[in-house]
Amino acid sequence: MIFIDACFGKETEYTPIWMMRQAGRYLPEYMEIRKKFNNFIDMTKDPEIVTEITLQPIDILDVDAAILFSDILNLPMEMGLPLRFEKGIGPIFDKTIDNKKDIDNLDKDAYKKLEYVYKSIELIRQNLNKDKALIGFAGSPWTIATYMVEGKGSKQYAKIKKMVYANSLMLHKLLEYNTNQTIKYLINQIKAGANAVMVFDSWGGALERDKFFEFSWEYMKKIAKEIKAKYPNIPVILFSKGVGLYMDKMDGEFDVLGVDWNTPIDYALNIFKNKYTLQGNIDPTRLYSKDAIKEAVLNVANIMKGNRHIFNLGHGILPDIPVENAKYFVSLSKEVTKRRINV
Ligand code: CP3
Repeated sequence: MIFIDACFGKETEYTPIWMMRQAGRYLPEYMEIRKKFNNFIDMTKDPEIVTEITLQPIDILDVDAAILFSDILNLPMEMGLPLRFEKGIGPIFDKTIDNKKDIDNLDKDAYKKLEYVYKSIELIRQNLNKDKALIGFAGSPWTIATYMVEGKGSKQYAKIKKMVYANSLMLHKLLEYNTNQTIKYLINQIKAGANAVMVFDSWGGALERDKFFEFSWEYMKKIAKEIKAKYPNIPVILFSKGVGLYMDKMDGEFDVLGVDWNTPIDYALNIFKNKYTLQGNIDPTRLYSKDAIKEAVLNVANIMKGNRHIFNLGHGILPDIPVENAKYFVSLSKEVTKRRINV
């Protein structure tokens, strides 16, 4: 699998590519299925539907990796926090984590309740071309904690950041619980057939530098370390958003580092050299224009030439991107990075 080879820094025929949120609303084929469900979460619980949606971007765009169709909030939902999505607001937990007792009440076996995810992975792997990788994933302990504490997406993170400064012991207790559940969740995804796993830390950038390492990165590192100890051949991808200026202090036992679009990729390359494969980092709004795509692909390909790289966006694809432009991004990046490999 070209994607897995690139994760480990092996030479590949071209630089592989996939896109965050590649299965979703910009695809008419996705909307066709979406119409039949009132509720997005119900879709994620149906292995046949999950398989069909996960495979759509492989068939339509010819990306090199499929990512499980699910959500980072399925795990906290199964911890005992009912989840709903509201139009115009996004995800909502009506019950939130406010005190120690709320943490004690969370289900210690939550990861076992995600059998529908493991079944989906088995079914996807049976139907996915053997040259294409399947990426499993989870949210970072910190990022899922922001939703568990705030109850929804947040701009200020006032409630959870109050815990950072006024009740850090309690927050660490929650993060430890989230970390343990996430390790078991990802290991079960690997057992079911995931070829790589990724941890999404979308809200790492809500923390100041030292607090980011204390409350988010340490826990992500722990997840990576545990997985690598058990499954050295499974690449671990870590992605924190909004933390480019903290990169000089990032280390750990993982294989791929996601780079967001705010962080110049040459800046990241200069810090890490070829210690990790860098994944990213085209601004998702460039996908509105073919000229803008071309400019960025050529620029990133030029900077990353001869270095460990996987093409991706610097955050998720937007719902109104023309499919034709997404296809162009994929085909162009493969074309400009084509090379002869020495075997
Ligand atoms: O990348 C993929 O194609 C795989 C599936 C995937 C989804 N969400 C599907 C989804 C993945 C990896 C995620 C991760 C996720 N979910 C993150 C981390 C990555 C990031 O974007 O920062 C976060 C923060 C979430 C939480 C979440 N889920 C939000 C805020 C929303 C609402 C967004 C919106 O635009 O309404 C979701 C819903 C969601 N997750 C959708 C999809 C395809 C849209 C559901 C729909 O069709 O209505």
